Amino acid sequence: MAVTAVIGLQWGDEAKGKIVDLLTDRHDIVVRYLGGNNAGHTVKFGGQTYKLSLLPAGVLRPEMTSVISNGVVINPKALLGEMASITSRGIPIAQNLKISDRAHVIFPYHVAEEAVYEKSRGENKIGTTGRGIGTCYRDKAGRTHAIRVGDLIRPDQLRRRLEEIVPQKNILFSALDPTVKFDVDEIYNEYETYADQLRSHVIDTTTFLHKALKSGKSMLFEGAQGSLLDIDHGTFPYVTSSNSSGCGIHPGSGVPERAINKMIGVVKAYTTRAGGGPCPTELVNEIGEHIRTEGHEFGTVTGRPRRCGWFDVVATGYGARVSGVDCIAVMLLDVLSKLDEVKICEAYEIDGERTTDFPSQIEDLAKAKPIYRTLPGWKTDITGVRKLADFPKAARAYIDNLAELLDLPVSIVSIGPDREQTVFIEGMW
Ligand code: IMO
Ligand code: MG
Repeated sequence: MAVTAVIGLQWGDEAKGKIVDLLTDRHDIVVRYLGGNNAGHTVKFGGQTYKLSLLPAGVLRPEMTSVISNGVVINPKALLGEMASITSRGIPIAQNLKISDRAHVIFPYHVAEEAVYEKSRGENKIGTTGRGIGTCYRDKAGRTHAIRVGDLIRPDQLRRRLEEIVPQKNILFSALDPTVKFDVDEIYNEYETYADQLRSHVIDTTTFLHKALKSGKSMLFEGAQGSLLDIDHGTFPYVTSSNSSGCGIHPGSGVPERAINKMIGVVKAYTTRAGGGPCPTELVNEIGEHIRTEGHEFGTVTGRPRRCGWFDVVATGYGARVSGVDCIAVMLLDVLSKLDEVKICEAYEIDGERTTDFPSQIEDLAKAKPIYRTLPGWKTDITGVRKLADFPKAARAYIDNLAELLDLPVSIVSIGPDREQTVFIEGMW
């Protein structure tokens, strides 16, 4: 397992955290390469549950190196809060955490700007996590108003950049929302203390990763969000603001895709979506409610109830192709155990035409009617299963149908949150 990547193939929340945790001890370095504190990764480790947002799951094992690479947008207050919460639970964070000097920094005006833009869309709001992620990436793409970690840790540079940027942001707010105004000194004083606490972790992580590859170190790329939330390939504009499919690894870390030996696509055994945008298989009925309750489908970051529905092969298969995964990990299969029958969407009907192509335009996706393959439920507790052969026939059929329809082998089936509640498929590891 030299270089492995774990990528969500749906709209995020696929339980990537559990897969990353299962694989961390087989690797030397864990890299978080995109997104920010919009992500919520739950990791059960040593009998404890940790909720990570910005920190790579590797930090729970101090003997490993964890890297936050250039593609991440960092809210330093959130990052330091997370680091404090981990260290207060007895896990030291020292030189085992590396932060890229190329990563961009989230400031309070990013959060305020996002609130204004979201409000302006009324009913059609993106439904973001409200963390200033998109507005920080917007400034990154715009370049003129961006501050990177490399600037943050140089006091003179930080002050100079804030003096250039904050007055212009205030002009913007005077038109968009006059109740909002920021003060250079206040932001500088606050961020200078963050810089002091983070400085010792900051390096050029791109060069660090290149050297690590050259010396034969193994690496695990920890995806955040999911392929259908990818800014270029997802359900635009109801997406996040970075390349959250497998495409994002290279720009987000500087490690080329050809260095990756194994790309694991993580899927839930059903569909969830947080935030706005069409979701063809969403169930606004008691089955959707049942899945939400059984799967505890409430946002880790925002607490919002997630929209739930049947597994969607058209959407997930597209996510898998964009990401270029080798195999899939099927998560939360146990959540479906009480249902009489289970359905898999194998095609859409759009304007009377059957298609298995995922639409590029949101208006077409909104019209898509799912065409289902219906299978019998297994109506048995499967949380104790440890071998593929021990699944009830109907559960096995469900797994086989997913593999057949996605045209990908299954490498892991997860039937509960604990590490032991994992079936590793023989021959895949
Ligand atoms: P993990 O890593 C699920 C969604 C938001 C919203 C859209 C844009 O836990 O899978 P943003 O704040 O990123 O600008 O919001 O993207 N979103 C996620 N949904 N899991 C996530 O991360 C998400 N990160 C962003 O709900 O619809
Ligand atoms: Mg999430």
